[in-house]
Amino acid sequence: MNDSDRRPTSILPRANIDDAVRPTRAEIDLSAIAANYQAVSRYVGVDVWGVVKADAYGHGAVEVGSTLVDAGAKGLCVALVEEGLELRSAGVSAEILVMSGVYRDGLDEAIDAKLTPVIFDRAQLEDLARVGRRGRTARVHLKIDTGMSRLGITLPEVESVCEILASMPHVRVDGLMTHFANADCDDASYTDVQIDRFAEAEAIARRCGLAPTVRHACNSAGAFRFSRARLEAVRTGIALYGVAPFPHDGPALMPAFSLRTAVLALREVPAGTPVGYAGNYRCASTTVLATIPIGYADGFFRRLSSEAEALVAGGRARVVGNVSMDMASIDVTQIAKSVGVAVGDEVVLLGSQRGRMGSGLIRAEEIAARVGTIPYEVLCAVSRRVPRRFVRDAHTRATST
Ligand SMILES: Cc1ncc(COP(=O)(O)O)c(C=O)c1O
Repeated sequence: MNDSDRRPTSILPRANIDDAVRPTRAEIDLSAIAANYQAVSRYVGVDVWGVVKADAYGHGAVEVGSTLVDAGAKGLCVALVEEGLELRSAGVSAEILVMSGVYRDGLDEAIDAKLTPVIFDRAQLEDLARVGRRGRTARVHLKIDTGMSRLGITLPEVESVCEILASMPHVRVDGLMTHFANADCDDASYTDVQIDRFAEAEAIARRCGLAPTVRHACNSAGAFRFSRARLEAVRTGIALYGVAPFPHDGPALMPAFSLRTAVLALREVPAGTPVGYAGNYRCASTTVLATIPIGYADGFFRRLSSEAEALVAGGRARVVGNVSMDMASIDVTQIAKSVGVAVGDEVVLLGSQRGRMGSGLIRAEEIAARVGTIPYEVLCAVSRRVPRRFVRDAHTRATST
């Protein structure tokens, strides 16, 4: 058995939609992702590399990566070697940049799989030298820390690191990159400083004899807000998933992720009835409660208890009581009165729905605001117990009927 035989085809196996008994599922609209890719490309006017790390922010790396490549993306970005290998074993042949997870032996593995490692630390130079001693060549991108203080060669180190890289005949530094810390903050001044530092680092690298052909600095917010930093390519993640990284900047985007389930049980309870663990929510009046089969084990945060809303028949129903591991309760009193609610009716926790009450949309931004986090975490949190269903044109269907 060789190394590639030992590799799992997925680093995070998910519940299979074909085996699912429970109606709870995530629906990923691949057409929305392709449309977002086109919108971002048109807006920025340079190459757009799709960031598909963390299973494409929970959307499914293989399906999203393939969709982006079909839509024209020249490259994809992952965090881990394992994530790159998953894409390779699914047949994705586009360039894949491994942005952070290249640890020691991982460099050899990355190179063997034709992944492009990012060199972000002086200690990796020794690993690169070893690659040469093995008779291999390496095409890499070099990351500069211009102010994020996370990964990258710091400005004082740039010259010595670039001199060593330039002296390695088996290494080709194809790309030069940095990452912005504050691109989505109101105050643009720190990003401006980072852009200037990146230009300084590039000048040093070229003086040392390196000739990177692709420079990239921008995440989604950077790509929309800092046109002078678009360079040859931008690395966008969240925008491709339909979340605006910064209000009022960038093209119109379509959410691609929805979280859907169905009413499991219904009961009408009198005023004063406690709901859920700890009973700290009490119904103020006679209430129709719908129990839904989704809980914090699915990534529906417990902090959404008595906070979130869900869509039923296109109308809004409030989550009441504490969210438990596998279930939550919603107050459907008004919807039941208006149009009726039955066991099996669809409930949408994230995404759009059209029904007899009208049409509604719950965005990841809304849930993030209720929980006190960022939309990225809301999307990544949906657990592997929730099967993914990949659809096309779901948005058009939900808004045009
Ligand atoms: C190095 C790097 N580049 C690009 C991105 C994409 O960022 P965004 O999803 O905000 O576009 C990320 C995401 O965190 C990242 O870590």
